[in-house]
Amino acid sequence: MKIAMIGAGYVGLVSGACFADFGHTVCCVDNDPAKIEALEQGRIPIFEPGLNTLVADNVRQNRLTFTTDLTSAVAAADTVFIAVGTPSRRGDGFADLSYVYAAARDIAAALTGYTVVVTKSTVPVGTGDEVERIIREARPDADFAVVSNPEFLREGAAIGDFKRPDRIVIGADDARAANVMNEVYRPLYLNQAPILVTGRRTAELTKYAANAFLATKITFINEIADLCEQVGANVQEVARGIGLDNRIGSKFLHAGPGYGGSCFPKDTLALVKTAQDCGTPIRLVEAVVAVNDQRKRAMARKIVTACGGSVRGKTIALLGLTFKPNTDDMRDAPSLSIVAGLQDAGARIRAHDPEGMEGAKHLMPDIAYADDPYSCAEGADALVIVTEWNAFRALDWALLADSMAVRVVVDLRNVYRGEDVARHGFHYVGIGVPTPEA
Ligand code: UDX
Repeated sequence: MKIAMIGAGYVGLVSGACFADFGHTVCCVDNDPAKIEALEQGRIPIFEPGLNTLVADNVRQNRLTFTTDLTSAVAAADTVFIAVGTPSRRGDGFADLSYVYAAARDIAAALTGYTVVVTKSTVPVGTGDEVERIIREARPDADFAVVSNPEFLREGAAIGDFKRPDRIVIGADDARAANVMNEVYRPLYLNQAPILVTGRRTAELTKYAANAFLATKITFINEIADLCEQVGANVQEVARGIGLDNRIGSKFLHAGPGYGGSCFPKDTLALVKTAQDCGTPIRLVEAVVAVNDQRKRAMARKIVTACGGSVRGKTIALLGLTFKPNTDDMRDAPSLSIVAGLQDAGARIRAHDPEGMEGAKHLMPDIAYADDPYSCAEGADALVIVTEWNAFRALDWALLADSMAVRVVVDLRNVYRGEDVARHGFHYVGIGVPTPEA
């Protein structure tokens, strides 16, 4: 199969490299010449475990190429994936589809022979219809079908998620296109991944429903964590106690500072807007969006309380800035709200992140950055674990106890057992877990 992948961002690059690894011939197209040049020289613009090697291997085997020339890539392809960004539109929260529609227009002009055009980007229900209309209007003669094939990739685990998916959802309104998509995913038959063929609108909605459900699960356990703190219960045990019920499931019940990243905040908001537009508001998800926004800000207040009610003039050391580990992605990271809240309260911030500091420096130029957790904590009045990177899972508390000005630890990811840290003379505060005696 010959595949053109429009958009060499996170989703496009991971999907393109994985399809090439399946044996397809993939051409990744991007209109940013600097990005294409970097990729051609083997430089990967994002941090994703395993992606460097996967790209290099497939480039070497001539199965993966990069170009800015959309026309020739599309003309040669059996399947064209649209994997461009759909950011939240400023002001109203709707998904901004201008990049998707621009890609559709460019694709239309370049189509030759029967081609399946696939929306991989997360797009509101009905976008496939519009993509089809745009192409049909521009090229009444073209032989094509538009299919929805949402991605369910977690950053940091994207290659594994692509190659061993829980399911593949294909929204195709005609059998010929569904057959082509079956060919595209045939290599996954070996893994027995369920392939669900649905109508196009159903596939589009499935993606939003999945992300909104997961965001709801996280928000639910976060609110239960707050209650645990008030009544002296332990949220981790509650999560285990409910998660062992198969109807609930144990995943996505880890209480923390609120969900962030490139998908959940944007997709929950877009679903809320679509539902309101259709006159069937999803009030549950509206509440999830509001609760999660407030939670990120509330984390700064939690840190202030742990510091005895004031952080004015104090140095707060933050470990972890990205929205989750194993990524350099700072989009909608809880750290952004936490830093802003602490700065408003008069704190000085020093931070360390294994991969996110470059990105963070653009967003937060006015905080100090440290090369490792220990220089970050030196002389600090509190240490806050914001992201659960592995590098923070076995900190030397004896060393930290000696080097910090004040022994306060706020563990927003419950990485540690409170008693283990308190033993070194720290005041330990976790999320929804009892605070041990220092
Ligand atoms: C998510 C979906 O998982 C993926 O299927 C979708 O296609 C894209 O969005 P991603 O944003 O990469 O993936 O990260 P994910 O691992 O899902 O985490 C999202 C956020 O939820 C992070 O901020 C994470 O810290 C938070 N989270 C996750 C929790 O706070 N608790 C949990 O139990 C799980």
